[in-house]
Amino acid sequence: MQFQLAPSILSADFLRLGEEISLLNSHAQLVHIDVMDGSFVPNISMGIVVTEAVSRIATIPLDVHLMVVNPQKWVDRFISAGAGRVSFHLEAAVQAGVDPVQLLSAIRSAGALAGLAFNPDVPVRDVFPYLEAADFILVMSVFAGFSGQKFIPESLERISELKTEIDRRGLSCAIEVDGGVGPGNIAALRNAGVDTFVAANAIYSHPDRAAAIAALRAAAGE
Ligand code: DX5
Ligand code: ZN
Repeated sequence: MQFQLAPSILSADFLRLGEEISLLNSHAQLVHIDVMDGSFVPNISMGIVVTEAVSRIATIPLDVHLMVVNPQKWVDRFISAGAGRVSFHLEAAVQAGVDPVQLLSAIRSAGALAGLAFNPDVPVRDVFPYLEAADFILVMSVFAGFSGQKFIPESLERISELKTEIDRRGLSCAIEVDGGVGPGNIAALRNAGVDTFVAANAIYSHPDRAAAIAALRAAAGE
């Protein structure tokens, strides 16, 4: 299977958001939307209004990454706003006393792909009970909250451990990686089993987004 590129618009030029989405329509497979509430993470980003606006011009699916407390309150609203994939954090579900399996099922029932995200300080085995219920696992390779952080090298080993368990059980759950992804690590991540790559800084720090995307693809060996 070919991998998917999911540029995170957290670092896009918000004054030209329409143009940024049009470019992704022809150069990427997903639009990654980072939703931060100032409580689960020490930052506030975008929410339902922006997701709705983006969905009006995006021709590729919206990949909504919820970094919020009480994610169970919001999944339906984001799916109605146009999300094709929704991930929430295992830590946020545990804190809210919500069964991750039920929330993943609710996302699927509402018609979106269901993802479970987790930060670098959560043991990988903590997501193992949810691999059947999830369409994808979002492995954070930086601590959620900001783009432009340095990739945490141990993430590679964590992804291999996850991939080994998915294969051992013969499951179809995909792996998404988010944080510090760039030309220098994308090939190793691909080899470790990543299906979907999120990238903000590696794309939006370059004026020519299409060239930056092409460089990522080339570095991944495609
Ligand atoms: C971080 C977000 C990421 C972030 C990635 O909390 O979930 O999606 O925007 O940014 P880079 O690629 O710059 O690390
Ligand atoms: Zn993200």
